[in-house]
Amino acid sequence: MTTGKKLLITAGPTREAIDPVRFLSNRSSGKMGYALAEAAVRAGYAVTLVSGPVALPRPDGLAEFVSVVSAAEMADAVKSRFSSADGAILCAAVADYRPVAVSPQKIKKQEGNWLLELERTEDILAALGRMKQPRQILAGFAAETEDLEANALAKLSRKNLDWIVANRVDRPDRGFLSDDNAATLFGAHGEVKEFPLMSKKALAKNLISAIFG
Ligand code: CTP
Repeated sequence: MTTGKKLLITAGPTREAIDPVRFLSNRSSGKMGYALAEAAVRAGYAVTLVSGPVALPRPDGLAEFVSVVSAAEMADAVKSRFSSADGAILCAAVADYRPVAVSPQKIKKQEGNWLLELERTEDILAALGRMKQPRQILAGFAAETEDLEANALAKLSRKNLDWIVANRVDRPDRGFLSDDNAATLFGAHGEVKEFPLMSKKALAKNLISAIFG
C-alpha cells in the first residue's frame, strides 16, 4: 500500500576533512535515521535517504539513496530535493563546524601545540525551515545532555519546525550507538508525546505515524 507521498530523511554523521587522512566527525551510528527510513518505506512512503558515512546495510525499498560525506554535500543533496517532498525528518548528526582550510597534503607534526581554525557549516534543518511551504511537514531531532524540553522547544521555534524529537545523549542505554532510544516528541501546536525506552525500530515506527500518519 502506498501513500503517494514523498519523504526526505537524513541519517548518520558527516565528516569534515582536515587533510587527506584526517577528519572531524561524531559518534552517530546512523541507526535511528535508517530505522526511520525503513519504517517510512513500510508505511507506504516514497523515501529518499540522504546518508553520511555509516556501517549499515542500505534499507530495502527506498525511492532514492544518496551517499554524502561532508555537511556541505549533505546540505546540497537535501536542499535540492526538499521542494518535491511532502515532508522531511532530519536525523543526521551534522557537524556544526569544519576546518577553514583543507590541506591537500598530510599535515606533518611540529613542535608545540596545533590550533585548528573552524568555521560554521550550514544548518540544513534551519534552511529547510525557511524554504518550507504550508503543505510540507518538517521534523528535526534535538540531541541534548541537559534542559531537554527548553532546548528542544527553542530549536522547534527557531528553525520553524512542525515537530521536534528530543532525546538525551548522555546515557549509555540509549541514543548514539545504542540499538535503543527514548524520546519526547514536541509539536508546534503544543503537542507532547512521550515514547519510553524501546528499540530504535519500534520508536521509528511510532514517530513516522505520529508525525506524518
Ligand atoms: N542539523 C542540521 N544541520 C546542521 C546541524 C544540525 O540539519 N548543520 C539538524 C540535525 O539533523 C537535527 C537538528 O538540526 O535534526 C538539531 O541538531 P542538534 O545538533 O541537536 O542541534 P543544533 O542545531 O546543532 O544546536 P545546538 O548546537 O545548540 O545544540
